[in-house]
Amino acid sequence: MKIGVLISGGGSNLQAIIDRCEDKSIEATVAFVGSDRPDVYGLERARKHGIPTFVVDYSRIISAFDQDSEDVTLPHGFDLEQIRSRQTLFGPHTPAAEVDHFLKTRAIAEARLLDHTKVYNPELLVLAGYMRTFSPFFIDRFNQGAALPRIMNIHPALLPAFPGTDGYGDTFHYGCKVGGCTVHFIDYGEDTGPIIGQKAFAITAGDTLETVKEKGLKLEWQLYPKCISLYAQGRLRVVEQTDESGHGGVPARRIVVQDTDKMP
Ligand code: GRF
Repeated sequence: MKIGVLISGGGSNLQAIIDRCEDKSIEATVAFVGSDRPDVYGLERARKHGIPTFVVDYSRIISAFDQDSEDVTLPHGFDLEQIRSRQTLFGPHTPAAEVDHFLKTRAIAEARLLDHTKVYNPELLVLAGYMRTFSPFFIDRFNQGAALPRIMNIHPALLPAFPGTDGYGDTFHYGCKVGGCTVHFIDYGEDTGPIIGQKAFAITAGDTLETVKEKGLKLEWQLYPKCISLYAQGRLRVVEQTDESGHGGVPARRIVVQDTDKMP
């Protein structure tokens, strides 16, 4: 299986994934590494392993749009109404202009990402510390209506607690006694997609934000390769689960199940 990895920073998760592919614990190869920022160390890690890299510089794309939004050509097939109705990143109280600005600028960046990914045609896209959310423009084109989603993310908290950009910080500052990390498929919301795997650690009296991050990252490096490996073995399925009792707060949700009959 060919996987593509997107990063925004140091890429310690990327390194764990490359290493597990190289030692064959994951039956896959990393076909490319892309970044939304130039000059991040993760790109260097990829090059050291001979893996092709590219950058789609979101900041530049957004600045160019802001300087000349009248003259910008939006990508072929971009349908603002449709994408607006699908997205769940923004609630009804976000000003329409803000939502539209987000969706247009992201679609421009995402069209470039799609151009890059098409070259390698990966079966799975892995977000490893990628600090951008995708709009439905990208998600629908990459998933191509497949029953099994094709984009995975790792989040530094035990979802659904603490979505957003600072999972370990939020966990620590809240005073939680347990922290953790979550691997999930991407859907239209922020960190809301079906959960594939989670690992937890204790937060004790002597812990600081730094030690919490250290404990969490060590678990991420185990959990992410494990989840990718399950995907590569064809052992993940997404099913609709409903709570018929009428008492619960989660009446229906798409969840991930592991096929045990496909154990190697
Ligand atoms: C990880 O904690 C990941 O969960 C979060 O960003 C961090 C990325 O670290 N989304 P690295 O770039 O893989 O070292």
